[in-house]
Amino acid sequence: MSEHVANIHQHGGQFGEGYGRAKSEGADFSHGVALYLEKVSVWFDSFRALNDLSLYIQEGELRCIIGPNGAGKTTLMDVITGKTRPTEGTAFFGQNYNLAKMTTEQIAESGIGRKFQKPTVFENFTVMENLLLAAPKDKSVKKSLFNRLAPEIKMALQQTLEQIRLTEFVKKPAGLLSHGQKQWLEIGMLLMQQPKLILLDEPVAGMTDAETERTAELCLELKKNHTLVVVEHDMSFIDTISEKVTVLAQGAILAEGTLAEVQANEDVIEKYLGR
Ligand SMILES: Nc1ncnc2c1ncn2[C@@H]1O[C@H](COP(=O)(O)OP(=O)(O)OP(=O)(O)O)[C@@H](O)[C@H]1O
Ligand SMILES: [Mg+2]
Repeated sequence: MSEHVANIHQHGGQFGEGYGRAKSEGADFSHGVALYLEKVSVWFDSFRALNDLSLYIQEGELRCIIGPNGAGKTTLMDVITGKTRPTEGTAFFGQNYNLAKMTTEQIAESGIGRKFQKPTVFENFTVMENLLLAAPKDKSVKKSLFNRLAPEIKMALQQTLEQIRLTEFVKKPAGLLSHGQKQWLEIGMLLMQQPKLILLDEPVAGMTDAETERTAELCLELKKNHTLVVVEHDMSFIDTISEKVTVLAQGAILAEGTLAEVQANEDVIEKYLGR
């Protein structure tokens, strides 16, 4: 794997200024890797939230990240989305985007979409308005009348509504949706931006069992066309969706493998499961 990273660094000059290739080219996944984090540390004053962490996510992978409260899971997503800068180490999206040199907006435009722990939908706007507000700016939508929308936006809207199962609530103000429906709407807002990599931070927190099951189905559907990184504490949800699981503790990787493998790991039992 470090061969890939070496490859990136050989092209170093290209990333010296700006953040790599033109936006229109998009993220370069030609080596099959969507995300490279190499020896990343994040210090908050004298506290080290991420500790020399290296993580590689393959294109098309659905990676689950678990670990105790304060392990650094959200900080990891903050580093990927540019909200927090790595104090040390490198973070690349595909071969060409040096995340540490990009603004949060540039990172979002490059194809990384993130759902925060708390849903942040616009409560007074309808489901449709929320989705249209999230559409890329260059396709800006001023009219919220469905039949006046550009055909590609219409299609994206219909497709997204079906995926998040909110078609019948299209005219409902988001504030009147259930907690689970709000979470799905926020995922829908991400999908409108057609991200390649989707980061979900505790997507099923506070959901009913039925909503959790539905969210697992949604994640498996999204996996067909996206690379996903999902942070969750809900083990039965992780069990339903997971392939490879990474366990984080004290800012470092404790174990990686299938859920069964990491659950049998002595360190994981001691520092996480056996609490
Ligand atoms: N901006 C900040 N300034 C100082 N400390 C911070 C900051 N952000 C996070 N931390 C600390 O870094 C550690 C990791 O926090 P983080 O939110 O990444 O954990 P987490 O794994 O997402 O936990 P949880 O499962 O509770 O969401 C915590 O001890 C937290 O208090
Ligand atoms: Mg968190």
